[in-house]
Amino acid sequence: MQLGLGTGSTAKHFVELLGERVAAGLKVVGVPTSEATRADAQRCGVPLTTLDEIDHLDITVDGADEIDSELNLIKGGGGALLREKIVAAASDRMIVIADDSKWVPTLGKFPLPLEVIPFGLGATRRAIEKVFADCGVSGQMAVRKAKDGHVFVTDGGHWIVDAQLGRIADPASLAKALSAIPGVVEHGLFIGLASSAVLAGGEGIRVIERRKP
Ligand code: A5P
Repeated sequence: MQLGLGTGSTAKHFVELLGERVAAGLKVVGVPTSEATRADAQRCGVPLTTLDEIDHLDITVDGADEIDSELNLIKGGGGALLREKIVAAASDRMIVIADDSKWVPTLGKFPLPLEVIPFGLGATRRAIEKVFADCGVSGQMAVRKAKDGHVFVTDGGHWIVDAQLGRIADPASLAKALSAIPGVVEHGLFIGLASSAVLAGGEGIRVIERRKP
């Protein structure tokens, strides 16, 4: 199988368990969604490839910051949203693994990450604000900082703006409008990409399949 390997604290468990299965003889090859996951996979002995060497992925397994009942997601809390979306979109199926706290009635409480080009950021921010107003959402935006206080730089060399929107009533429309802004490389709304979610809670595991449109 050809697998997309997600990023974050939950996906890290998956990579470690996959490494155990590979050591026991499982034949898989993975495409990591971040340099952090690449390092984890290499440490765990999971063979890696790239999307230039293979033409598709069977399944991507990744975490999420928020999941709604349509299996729309907010991702990018770890800053890997661009590679995560490229890998998910190249996959036949995306399975989200998360704890129950990520399951929300409406997306938006978690700040929406927007991966932006540093050049012309003022103009990009104004364009984002206009899109927010057109889509009926509003909230503070802040350039993400790393733990050392410097601007957080993604694996692709871009910056992230986190937008505190509170409630996103129509995530699909917002996603489409944000994608049309030139300085926005990608945004953390994953619409129609997840096939199923595996949620862990106090009462065990539940699996939610996306309803067919
Ligand atoms: C990384 O950029 C994110 O999209 C993660 O997949 C998401 O933040 C979930 O991470 P945790 O499993 O650490 O909560």
